[in-house]
Amino acid sequence: MPGQESFHMTPDEFRRAGRLVVDWIADYYERLESLPVLSRARPGEIRSALPPDPPYQGEPFEAMLRDVENIVLPGLTHWQSPNFFAFFPANSSGPAVLGELLSAGLGVQGMLWATSPACTELETHMLDWLVQMLELPAKFGSSGSGGGVIQDSASSAVLCALLAARERATGFMSNECGCDGRLVAYASDQAHSSIEKAIKIAGLGRQNLRLVAVDSSFAMRPESLADQVKHDLASGLVPCFVCATVGTTSSNAIDPLAAIGPICQKHRLWLHVDGAMSGTAALCPEYRFIHHGLEYADSYAFNPHKWMFTNFDCDCFWVADRAALIQTLSILPEYLRNQATESGSVIDYRDWQVQLGRRFRALKLWFVIRHYGVNGLQHHIRHHIALAQRFADWVRAEPNFELAVEPPLNLVCFRHQAGDSANQRLLDRLNNSGEMYLTHTRMDDKLTLRFCVGQTHTEARHVERAWQRIQWVALELA
Ligand SMILES: Cc1ncc(COP(=O)(O)O)c(C=O)c1O
Repeated sequence: MPGQESFHMTPDEFRRAGRLVVDWIADYYERLESLPVLSRARPGEIRSALPPDPPYQGEPFEAMLRDVENIVLPGLTHWQSPNFFAFFPANSSGPAVLGELLSAGLGVQGMLWATSPACTELETHMLDWLVQMLELPAKFGSSGSGGGVIQDSASSAVLCALLAARERATGFMSNECGCDGRLVAYASDQAHSSIEKAIKIAGLGRQNLRLVAVDSSFAMRPESLADQVKHDLASGLVPCFVCATVGTTSSNAIDPLAAIGPICQKHRLWLHVDGAMSGTAALCPEYRFIHHGLEYADSYAFNPHKWMFTNFDCDCFWVADRAALIQTLSILPEYLRNQATESGSVIDYRDWQVQLGRRFRALKLWFVIRHYGVNGLQHHIRHHIALAQRFADWVRAEPNFELAVEPPLNLVCFRHQAGDSANQRLLDRLNNSGEMYLTHTRMDDKLTLRFCVGQTHTEARHVERAWQRIQWVALELA
């Protein structure tokens, strides 16, 4: 109404505040190295600094940014620090952040082709580019019967794969009548917890997830898989799904796809391959051995939001037979009907995922790929792997330490010879120092430290200093 006050941010205010934010982020990147990697906040500390009641009157933007600096920043663990060696990385980069900003600014929903054709077509194109970039089997490309989609996470990808597997195995009847408790799924005992979660959500029942034994490199034993499938068939059960992992979370083990694939083919089991972090290594031809046997897979996923400089969330998920996935997930209420869908000539990604709404995630992927080029991405991935391998050489050469397993790529699992409590103290001391952040796992029932090199700005000096500190602290604790 004319004359009515507006509370909205004007374009000029947005321009000014936006510059402040971009400057703040750029400054943050510049000082990241000096910040303690692991947050030192105590439980409740952040909330106690926030006002108990929401503001009745709006506040100036500068006040919000000030609180980010004073209240939020101390409560952060700095995932983008070059001294972050914990978990798997969730790295990021300038072009990704700017793509994300643009996506938020455009604010489009890409659930249907018709609701923003560019959102769908750029996504399909990026997923086809990645088929080339990683040299994935051609069947995952959109020009044949398959195709790719961006999911929020590897967890969603495995859930979608499992749902399609469930439907394929039951002639699409479990969507109609539910599960009868006979469907069985398989993954190694090192597979990510998202598989178990998917099993629960998909209604297979946790007891119907078989955790297959692994070999000395922590990779799935194909003979154990074959035996288990045979046993389940003999018991009248219906094996339907195998999840193999290329780069397990605990130790980066690579399940042997070339041996697992024929077992799946023989019994018509849907083979999903989870390459969450390590899939990125296939950008470099010399690391494509990780995908040996991927031609057997019905679906594959990896996360550019882990190691490919694309901020969370961005999981790339491909299927060899998109019809199975679409038939599994498609529901068409009247309010979503449109001519483009009915023409059958477009992709409606709402049928490829659990949610209806979807963000324009392809923008950040496009920006990352164009900024770095394949060459730039390969350069940085090779650099990370070389740094991790150098770290592994140092561990090998130090008599008080040992490798828990040979590191295939950028994750080094190692421990001090002095046992669990010494390793725990070492880990705590290092993490409490703020100088670096490592996490742990258990391998061969021994507490094991994980050192993963994958942060965007991690350089040789960070890895060298980390190893010096690890040795130094181990000496102090001895
Ligand atoms: C091997 C593996 N699979 C799946 C996931 C789950 O990833 P997301 O957070 O994208 O669901 C992870 C997370 O670290 C992982 O390491």
